[in-house]
Amino acid sequence: MSKQLFERPTITRLTPGVPSKHGTGSVIAAMPLIDGINVNDLMDQFGSPLYIFSEREIRKSMEDVKRAFSVRYHKTQMAWSYKTNYLDAICRIFHNEGSWAEVVSGFEYDKAIRNGVKGENIIFNGPAKSSDELLKAVVNGSFIHIDHMDELFLLTDICNRNNLEARVAVRVNMDTGINPKWDRFGFNYENGEAWDAINRIMINPHLNLMGLHTHIGTYMISTDPYNLAASKLAELAVSIARKFDFHISYIDMGGGFASRNTLRGAYLSGEDTTPSFDEYAEAITSALINSQIKPDKLPVLILETGRALIDNSGFLAGSVIANKRLSDGRRATIVDVGVNLLFTAYWYDHKFHPVGSHSGIVEETSIFGPLCMNIDLLRPSLMFPALKRGDRFVIAKSGAYNLSQSQQFITTRPNVVLISMNREVNVIRRAETLEDISSNEIIPGYLL
Ligand SMILES: Cc1ncc(COP(=O)(O)O)c(C=O)c1O
Repeated sequence: MSKQLFERPTITRLTPGVPSKHGTGSVIAAMPLIDGINVNDLMDQFGSPLYIFSEREIRKSMEDVKRAFSVRYHKTQMAWSYKTNYLDAICRIFHNEGSWAEVVSGFEYDKAIRNGVKGENIIFNGPAKSSDELLKAVVNGSFIHIDHMDELFLLTDICNRNNLEARVAVRVNMDTGINPKWDRFGFNYENGEAWDAINRIMINPHLNLMGLHTHIGTYMISTDPYNLAASKLAELAVSIARKFDFHISYIDMGGGFASRNTLRGAYLSGEDTTPSFDEYAEAITSALINSQIKPDKLPVLILETGRALIDNSGFLAGSVIANKRLSDGRRATIVDVGVNLLFTAYWYDHKFHPVGSHSGIVEETSIFGPLCMNIDLLRPSLMFPALKRGDRFVIAKSGAYNLSQSQQFITTRPNVVLISMNREVNVIRRAETLEDISSNEIIPGYLL
């Protein structure tokens, strides 16, 4: 092997807080309080790890999004995307703020009904609705968003046999300049599939076309695709009006607005790159208002935004279990929060905030969870202060998808608490026990 050339090492001064070629600065803010409540007290009472939600933050996000859209467009309706977080208490806050329910399975549908949502205020999306689920939705007068031709035929058959009429919308996918294209769900715009589905529905005596739907992607950090998507749906609405002299009742733009989290490896923080609700609203509403739809026929605009409304309102608190050194000398901090509780660790660089004060001296650290699995890595590398065993931290902006996608794996799942508007703390899902998990298991007689 040839001898390698010697390279003089360089030392670069980093100024915390100021973006540099090494990324953003490394000032780590402590988070002793959430919504005025002492995090240490919460963890003493409800354990570690602990999911914490702020009702105040949820209602504030709803207020912000409603204001941004309603000042630009007179008829806007929010529909809470159940899969983003379907804890009953959380859903009820959204319904209390005027949201309908947007569901993608029979399980979510039944949850919405149990949460007091009227059938006619449920939007039923998803590619895998069963015959029984479709029948229930038809009888309840829910909006069924048709995903593919097989579903259109199945629904027609159900309606024929039961002599019923269904309220439906066509889910449309399209090229909005995003790569890879989101063309897995619904009917394609560019190749004429969507227009074909619309025509079939318009001549079907059992299906009443109520609207057009799209969901163009998730964590969209540009608003232009929304403008394009809303224009394309508006063009379809105009074609329907011309050909059938019929005006659809709504255009549903789905979800996808980004939260303020930072994507893994992104150079700039999500705080700086995420568009505001006003920017999304401007992109969508200007496309509708400036379309050829007659002003008195403008449809209701439905939004199914999920993560942007709940991510910032959720926190996951945990404790340090140990520190060790990896073979390359890097510090590894092991914590009691695993990827089974923080699924979004796979695509966000989540911020970790110590609960108590710290030295401010940071070092490159990998943060691992407690699972005895190599994949249990929350942050491959971040500049972080030394926290010792028992020290606590909060992962902010973790309210979207983490609960609904959490898995019971190796350990049981922890308590979830909600800080109410008057700063009462309520458990909204109690920690799992061995009995909860074993209650569905059956031991065959010969193994008893
Ligand atoms: C049909 C539909 N609507 C709304 C949402 C919510 O999306 P987001 O959380 O990105 O706003 C999703 C999520 O995948 C979805 O599939």
